[in-house]
Amino acid sequence: MHAFFALCPHQHYDLSDGILERGGIACPQHLWRFELDDGRCRMVPGARIPIYAAHEEDGWVVVELPAPPEDSR
Ligand code: FES
Repeated sequence: MHAFFALCPHQHYDLSDGILERGGIACPQHLWRFELDDGRCRMVPGARIPIYAAHEEDGWVVVELPAPPEDSR
């Protein structure tokens, strides 16, 4: 199970309105497609979305976010 950042890196459209298909999600605005295993956009080199590990626990979806950088605590 994966979770992903919901804003498209292109023009910040909501990827939760995107089209899920075959291990990827396509942005609803300009159809950039991001792979859900690594977040990369194969159509636009360098474009990617953050992908987070997630799992189900007692009926909840738990997203494993990275620790914040030391200087932001
Ligand atoms: S805003 Fe997502 S592809 Fe353009």
